[in-house]
Amino acid sequence: MSPPPAKLPLPPGARVPDRALWLNGSLVRGEAAVLSVWDRGARDGGALFETLRTYAGRPFAWQQHMERLVLSAAELGFPVPPAPARLREAVEQVLAAEKLTDAVVRITVTRGIPGGRPVRAGAWVEAEALGGRLWAGARMRHPSGDGPAGSRAIVSRTPFAPGRLGRHKTTSRLAYDLAREEARAAGADEALLVSPSGHVLEGGASNLFVVRPDGLVVTPPLESDVLPGVTRACVLALARSIGLEAREGSVSLEMLRLADEVFLTNSVQEVLPLAEVAGRPVPSRDVALRLLAEYRRLVALG
Ligand SMILES: Cc1ncc(COP(=O)(O)O)c(C=O)c1O
Repeated sequence: MSPPPAKLPLPPGARVPDRALWLNGSLVRGEAAVLSVWDRGARDGGALFETLRTYAGRPFAWQQHMERLVLSAAELGFPVPPAPARLREAVEQVLAAEKLTDAVVRITVTRGIPGGRPVRAGAWVEAEALGGRLWAGARMRHPSGDGPAGSRAIVSRTPFAPGRLGRHKTTSRLAYDLAREEARAAGADEALLVSPSGHVLEGGASNLFVVRPDGLVVTPPLESDVLPGVTRACVLALARSIGLEAREGSVSLEMLRLADEVFLTNSVQEVLPLAEVAGRPVPSRDVALRLLAEYRRLVALG
């Protein structure tokens, strides 16, 4: 007779979320969702992930998220991630198990255990209701009734030099997470990360756009090692499609201070105007609201 399954040795006081998730081909729940401590994803942040949003049960920009995942995995020498079709099935299974339609889905792919030569990367897929994941500035309505209230952002005090890995969505998140905690401690939704040479790069979990007083829409270039955000690319294309002049360019602290508008993009918050940056009220949010409307039009098209 095989021995009873060992109880998961958790530190005192720790509680495991009781959610269903897909792990390497099976649906598991709560304490059964276990990754080996030998896995480089668990030990060293050696994993890639994608966070995306589902609307009425359908993932938005699935293709683009899969491309980023597969390209990063290849560039960083990971074993091959599960096929996108397999991951899509996994998303559907998890949404069904959790009875979710408007959700935030996370797909994680790990480098696995060193020593062997795994051909396929390990992977898991999880989903959470959207409500708990929206930032205050995206959740609350603007007093005019038109669009989100807009977020507060701080400028992180720690200079940030992501290097080449900044272009990949890895689980080595500590530097980003500490910046976001700095924001939360200041009652803000996001922290803007600034390079040692004074260029504003992105948020701890979002890409940055500024609208200059002359109307030019600027987002920091990918060469500055910001994450190639799926929403960033989509919003750049949408801006051009509605006749705005939008381009990549470096954003100095002075530009940030003089901007008519500052907004953030990511797959969960969509296009989020900032109401305040580093204590300064941002004068306008017109461009962000136009782009948000265009973005939602695209989402509605499926
Ligand atoms: C550091 C960073 N930049 C930008 C983004 C936005 O990326 P996407 O639009 O693909 O969600 C994220 C998303 O989490 C992020 O973590």
